[in-house]
Amino acid sequence: MYNAKISGLGFFVPENVVTNDDLSKLMDTSDEWIQERTGIKERRHVIKGDDTTTSMGVKAAKIAIERAGIDKDEIDFIIFATLSPDYYFPGPGVLVQRDLNINTVGALDVRNQCSGFVYAISVADQYVKSGMYKNVLVIGSELHSHGLDMTTRGRGVSVIFGDGAGAAVISREEDTNKGILSTHLHSEGQHAEELSLIAPGMGKRWVNDILQDNDPNDTSYFPHMNGQFVFKNAVVRFSEVIMEGLNANGLGPQDIDMLIPHQANLRISQFVQKKFGLSDDQVFNNIMHYGNTTAASIPIALTEAWESGKIKEGDLVVLAAFGSGFTWGSAIIRW
Ligand code: UT7
Repeated sequence: MYNAKISGLGFFVPENVVTNDDLSKLMDTSDEWIQERTGIKERRHVIKGDDTTTSMGVKAAKIAIERAGIDKDEIDFIIFATLSPDYYFPGPGVLVQRDLNINTVGALDVRNQCSGFVYAISVADQYVKSGMYKNVLVIGSELHSHGLDMTTRGRGVSVIFGDGAGAAVISREEDTNKGILSTHLHSEGQHAEELSLIAPGMGKRWVNDILQDNDPNDTSYFPHMNGQFVFKNAVVRFSEVIMEGLNANGLGPQDIDMLIPHQANLRISQFVQKKFGLSDDQVFNNIMHYGNTTAASIPIALTEAWESGKIKEGDLVVLAAFGSGFTWGSAIIRW
């Protein structure tokens, strides 16, 4: 058995900054409401034609591969987490294989929304630990902005989400005390529809239904979120899964050097920080600048934290996520 470590990190966000005031010109909202409820000041939106979920992922991946100090052809496997793929099928994993011109390695698409990156890291970890692969490219990328209802009807969701991508190379580590110590994954499908996008799908709303009905009041192809219910579950599950990860390694909250929570809502991160008695230096948040970028939020935050020197060798880094599904998970990493 080997261990698996994060050997390279990168992120990409589109240049186009959209402030809360910009949104208030499109819908009945305000900078005050958005900041007070979520902590978000601005987010990035792709200008149509400039980028896609895949192209942002590829840009982030190129940086991560370079920082890992490997050639692209040393990548043995690709894992792509997103809820906003370029195409209904095929998924973006194969598009990355094509656009990075990598050998015909396997490419897997992960559909676990806000927990997607933690799930993807967990899969990569198993492949590397078992010795099957040496270098796995993991990408989380989202292009939300073109799929949101940018009217007052959709304001409960649209103000929160932003576009961007993050990537990590997971590589073999001979020292079994270093790297990813453990990952912990959960789901509760009972609440699947509380944070969901129902159509188009082969379940409730087929494409043909939508075309046939041509109903301007049809919101089935916009994301739906029962905000307060999701919030209440998030604070419980975040706390549980962080504690589960720490306990599994004989550690406690005092051992955390850096917690990178999925950037769902600054108030959720602050709740978790307080619950575990962590200082501002022990928790990294950047939701203020990017909003919630779903599967991209953890790799973007992790990259920024690392780039700014907030993560050093030997640090205990904890990743934790919660989101649609419901799904949640954590990764405990010795840097
Ligand atoms: O990443 C995946 C996991 N996601 C989460 O963890 C998100 C969890 N939930 C949340 O972050 C919060 O529930 C939200 C930020 C989404 C909403 O905040 P809230 O404090 O739960 O607000 P609410 O949905 O209860 O709505 C309160 C009021 C409503 O008006 P009334 O009925 O009280 O008159 C909404 O219509 O705020 C209204 N509202 C808005 N007002 C201005 C909803 N969205 C907006 C808006 N601007 N953008």
